[in-house]
Formats: sequence, C-alpha cells, structure tokens
Amino acid sequence: MTGLPAAVRLPRKPAGTAREGLGATSRIDDWATEPGIVGIGFTAFILYSLFSALLWYPLFGVAYEVDGYLSPFFSPLVKPDFMPDWFSPAILILWAPGGFRVTCYYYRGAYYKAFWADPPSCAVGEPRKGYLGEASFPLILQNVHRYFLYLALFFLVFLVHDVWKALWFTDPATGQTSFGLGVGTLVLAANVALLGSYTFGCHSLRHLIGGYRDRLSGSPVRLKAYKCVGCFNRRHMMFAWMSLFSVGFSDLYVRLCSMGIWTDWRIF
Ligand code: FES
Repeated sequence: MTGLPAAVRLPRKPAGTAREGLGATSRIDDWATEPGIVGIGFTAFILYSLFSALLWYPLFGVAYEVDGYLSPFFSPLVKPDFMPDWFSPAILILWAPGGFRVTCYYYRGAYYKAFWADPPSCAVGEPRKGYLGEASFPLILQNVHRYFLYLALFFLVFLVHDVWKALWFTDPATGQTSFGLGVGTLVLAANVALLGSYTFGCHSLRHLIGGYRDRLSGSPVRLKAYKCVGCFNRRHMMFAWMSLFSVGFSDLYVRLCSMGIWTDWRIF
C-alpha cells in the first residue's frame, strides 16, 4: 500500500484476473451480494452519523448526554465558550475517528468495491481501464492511516474514562452521587470493548509492534504483543462491523434516554 515508483506500478490489465467491461467475469458465485450489503450498511451509518453529529444537536438541543452517560460521537467533549449554541461539538472531534475508519485497510477494500466498483469484486471487470492503485494522488493519502491510529488510541482513553463516569449516578432529590450500574453503563462498556478490539487489530499497529522485524523470537514481550494484535487482526472485519454498529447504537441509546423516549434501567 505504500507509494510505488511508476516503474513497478501494476500493469493496466493484470493477466487472468478479470474480463473487460463493468461486471464481466468468469465467476459463477453470487459476487454482487456482499458489496451490495456493505454499501447499504456504510450508507446507513454515514447518514445516521451525519444526522446525529450535525443536525440532532441544533434541532433538539443538548441530547447527547444524560446522567453520567455521554454519546461516543461527542467524546471527548470539547466545547469552547466562543462556540455558538447551535454548533455541534461533535464536529470538532469526529474527523479523527472518521479518518481512522475511512483509511482502514479493511474499509478501503470494502468501499472501493461497494461505492465505486474498483473493482466490483475480485476478478470482476471494472468500469475503467487504468489502474494505479494507491500509488498516486489522491489515494496515496490513505497512507496517513498510521497517524490516525495514534489518535484512535488516544480517543480510547477518553472512552474508557466515560465508562468510569457512567458508573456514578447523582440523585436529583439529594444531589448525592453514588456508585451504580445501569444498562447504559453496559452499552458504553461493550462499545469500548468492541472499539478496542477493532483498534488493537489494526494492520498499522501490528506493523508498529513487530511487523517490520525479520525475527521476533529474540524479543519475547514484543512477540507476545505481536501475537495478541495478530489475534485481533484475524477478526478485523468482524470487529470493524461490530464496533460500527455499537458506536451508532450507543449514541442512539444516550440520545433517546436524554430525550425521555427510553428509560435507562438501573441494575443497582
Ligand atoms: Fe483497519 Fe488499521 S487497518 S483500523
């Protein structure tokens, strides 16, 4: 995925990979279903997150936090005094986790197929003749992924802290704060667990920990960490989808509780 010199770019038409023309293929399996489902899933999430981050706040006011719960779309909550009331604080931070997802190696492979048929699926003809991969502008910018990884690790710390805060509830009658557990706490905790599983399986993290070394056997701690990341990495696609769903659902849960549409059930 790194920038290749022009001399080693792939040929325009790798031999034996696909027939000419959009959708032309020798494959006899149902190759179109998966990119179709992926496209619908990504579109639904993008529309929901844009509505939640940009419109929900100006339309319904402060609906992103309730009791000790804060929507993950708004964490860490950054709200400078000079910001006008209608301005959603999510705009200031969402570019970081959004950039992490958009540049993720799994998502790239998935949305190149689903959104611009490049190619529609493996060994299926595509609507263009030239193929430069990610070796030229603008897709070469995808290599910024490793820097988004650093930000994503930083954001995880805030999300863990949000779960800690979701364990403390204030009694509106007395103003006293006490330790407790609500369904919302479990929702936020599950979200952090899934986001962590997704982030710790990142290909860039695996490279950072040991992927660039020829031999790891002389570094037992590094080897263990590498195996651990490799374990998450093997399920990266699964965690990518589960964490996408959990982050959206956590936002929805906090919002609907905040608006009084759902009631948070307190376990103790
Ligand atoms: Fe998917 Fe880094 S490769 S998060």
